[in-house]
Amino acid sequence: MGRKGENVAFKKNLLCIGAGYVGGPTMAVIALKCPDYRVTVVDVNEERIDQWNSDRLPIFEPGLDDVVRAVRGKNLFFSTDVPAAIRAADIIFVSVNTPTKTFGEGAGMASDLQHWEKTAQQIIEHSDGSKIIVEKSTVPVRTAEAMERILRMNGKGLRFEIISNPEFLAEGTAVRNLLEPDRVLVGSLETESGRKAAREIADIYAHWVPADKIITTNLWSSELSKLVANAFLAQRISSINSISALCEKTDADIGDISFAVGSDSRIGPRFLAAGIGFGGSCFRKDILNLVYIARSYGLPDVADYWEMVVRINDFQQERFVQRIVHEMFQTLVGKKIALFGFAFKANTGDTRESPGIYVARKLIEERAVVSITDPWALDNARRDLEGIGGRVEFQTDPYRAAEGAQAIALITGWDAFRQLDYEKIFRVMVKPAFLFDGRNLLDHPRLFQIGFNVYPLGKPSRTHFA
Ligand code: UDX
Ligand code: ADP
Repeated sequence: MGRKGENVAFKKNLLCIGAGYVGGPTMAVIALKCPDYRVTVVDVNEERIDQWNSDRLPIFEPGLDDVVRAVRGKNLFFSTDVPAAIRAADIIFVSVNTPTKTFGEGAGMASDLQHWEKTAQQIIEHSDGSKIIVEKSTVPVRTAEAMERILRMNGKGLRFEIISNPEFLAEGTAVRNLLEPDRVLVGSLETESGRKAAREIADIYAHWVPADKIITTNLWSSELSKLVANAFLAQRISSINSISALCEKTDADIGDISFAVGSDSRIGPRFLAAGIGFGGSCFRKDILNLVYIARSYGLPDVADYWEMVVRINDFQQERFVQRIVHEMFQTLVGKKIALFGFAFKANTGDTRESPGIYVARKLIEERAVVSITDPWALDNARRDLEGIGGRVEFQTDPYRAAEGAQAIALITGWDAFRQLDYEKIFRVMVKPAFLFDGRNLLDHPRLFQIGFNVYPLGKPSRTHFA
């Protein structure tokens, strides 16, 4: 090894194929913590690579700018030259996108592995030495096996060791999750060369992660652990959301219930905030994957069990819109409704699987005028709603979004929405003014006092109607 990059001799060349939400931050932190490794990130998307090389990174992630600035051009490089990067690499992380299949067998459930397979073919084509291939994107269990087969039949006499090293990054805290992970999972084949490859990957993380947090398992356990971790997190959200519906029928308050239930140390308080439903690129996709796998292994009861987590999530979004229609006298025709937030959660511009998409579409179907405001997600919102028809506005200023609106529907829990002057907002709205708080973010008694009819989630509403 010991290839030269700039004037420094590096111990190893690491490559990541796919410069997205996962690949970019992960490799930037690895470069920061491992100055002895040369790290390259490639992508077929030229615009994305240009952005990684610019002052405005393609993703908004707190702390990421500082990390990238510290190492870019030293031991972190972004490029579109995939063949050259493959040739030079000792270890290749693959973090290309694996969306849910939209066609053919397993449509709507299974993962679409076309990018993964194409990547494997590229690795074979451009390699002239043996390498370790690290599966970073979330993939269905046993993908590594399929990839191992493709790579084994390379016809060049090369050896590729496959490692599963799933990411557990949550957007908005990705850099912190990378710097201080709860655990790092490294799965390998249980052969001597498999274990050796796993040690090489564990060595990377050992630069900054304590040894007891680096867990080594077999390949399948590692892949499945990722899906199950996300399924459990999503299941907690669906559990509390299902109870929020019950609260609205009784005098119970979902906040009290989350607190009381979460105080049991066996349960714990996190991921028990009722809301409009989970979004993000992982939860839905991973659970559907789990469901698909269970079904294809002849376990329909297991599949049905996990499918309900997604079903409750849909239900939560549906009933949020139904409530708006019902409370606003069964018609939204021509009424302006301001959506406060569009990102799938606060502190990110990402809108993938955001409940905002469903809500906006449904409101437009009801012929409402929809005015969307979000501090970071307006560009994505525009793309998500392209060609949707109806009347949609995008406003950077929340006060403008609320002007002439009869209702506010709060979709994303941005702290900035808490700081607004709701007296001023109330003044410019059509009366009676409604506020549907999909995240239980705002001060409901105060809003009621100002004059709003307030509909929290899983709590009694506060209205001025007799
Ligand atoms: C998630 C996992 O947390 C992460 O480990 C995995 O690698 C990728 O998927 P992410 O999608 O970035 O990360 O967001 P997360 O913070 O987990 O939130 C997911 C969704 O659940 C958001 O829409 C959020 O608003 C919602 N949520 C979360 C709730 O509705 N209530 C909660 O209590 C927590
Ligand atoms: P994730 O959230 O998993 O990181 P993203 O969609 O943000 O997913 O990123 C995946 C990236 O992988 C995209 O930028 C896409 O252009 C890139 N990609 C997909 N296929 C290939 C390929 N064959 N070679 C290089 N990059 C690829």
